[in-house]
Amino acid sequence: MADIDPSKLQLFQFILFTKLEGAFTSALVHLGDRLGLYRAMASATAPLTTMQLAHLTQLNERWVREWAYNQAAAKLISTENEPSDPPTVQDDKFFLSPEQMVVLASEDHPAFGLGMFHSLRQTMQLLDDLPESFRTGIGQNYDSRGVEGAIGMERNFEPWTNANLLSKVLPKLDGVVDVLTKGAKIADVGCGTGGALLLMGKAFSKSNFTGYEISKYALARAAERLDRSKLTNVSFADPRDQPIPTNNSVDLVTTFDCIHDMTHPLQMMQAIRSAISDNGTWLLVDIKAHDTFTMNATQNPMAALLYGVSLMVCLSSSMSAPNGAGIGTLGLSANTAEQMAKSAGFTRFRKLDVDHAINAFYEIRP
Ligand SMILES: C[S@@+](CC[C@H](N)C(=O)[O-])C[C@H]1O[C@@H](n2cnc3c(N)ncnc32)[C@H](O)[C@@H]1O
Repeated sequence: MADIDPSKLQLFQFILFTKLEGAFTSALVHLGDRLGLYRAMASATAPLTTMQLAHLTQLNERWVREWAYNQAAAKLISTENEPSDPPTVQDDKFFLSPEQMVVLASEDHPAFGLGMFHSLRQTMQLLDDLPESFRTGIGQNYDSRGVEGAIGMERNFEPWTNANLLSKVLPKLDGVVDVLTKGAKIADVGCGTGGALLLMGKAFSKSNFTGYEISKYALARAAERLDRSKLTNVSFADPRDQPIPTNNSVDLVTTFDCIHDMTHPLQMMQAIRSAISDNGTWLLVDIKAHDTFTMNATQNPMAALLYGVSLMVCLSSSMSAPNGAGIGTLGLSANTAEQMAKSAGFTRFRKLDVDHAINAFYEIRP
């Protein structure tokens, strides 16, 4: 065996175990959200002892204390110590800084970050199925993570969408806000639980909106939300029962973070071209990806996370039928998207100037 450099060995062990720390800490983030611990901390007016936090959440203090120790050691929550004589475990108090508060406890803030942690349990359960996927090549669609998977996606995407879609994204599309204001036909393909569509439906009452989605859990939740909204200009459909129109009648098609998840994305782009009017627009929102693995790995600090999410969620979805395209989370670069859109019959492709940590935005036109 080659000589082992002790300091490189130590560094590598450290790197490996930081990943394990991430896995365990992520599980405790999931619990912090699920048990209302972050929300209780956010509602407090002063730092809390674990006795106080346990009382607020109606949980057992000893468990809350170990949770808080993990979270504070991981620097996800803040801590201060007021020594008493003799010291007690209740000398430590825990609180959220303003930044921790928006990411961990402010569901309506665009920086809210717990969506992906919501369905962590369902995602990790897929570990039992993944060895088989490696052997057969066939992955799992979004419904493999049940209703919590759909809710997780909703909580992941909506805070940013609610804060930015109407004010910062749609106005960047040439003439689209005018068209929607006057009355138009819109399709949101891969609409999830329908948040973007309901938002637009409320803002543009003269337009008609249809959301297309193949996840039964997402569709059921979209239907419930539509019911609660009382909107009459929005509907949802499974495109396998009610296909996307093929008569060039749609003025705006939107696809938010879903083309790279599809088993047959090129066919979907062709379907979108058949749906869209010659004057229409396709707003493609997809992951900001580079052309090669090396570029992603060196230029995207979240590359390891995104390749991991890909294998367990996006790649799995895009391989969930035989001959799935298998694009993966970081597979739809601007160049790939443009080439595919052009081969589907579109001629104009423009990247929009929208600032987003993960996504890129494109205006694509016939
Ligand atoms: C990452 S989620 C995004 C959902 C939604 N657009 C959002 O922003 O919350 C991707 C969605 O694409 C859906 N999807 C995948 N293939 C599809 C297809 N062929 N037609 C319609 N929806 C599809 C999945 O079921 C999943 O709900």
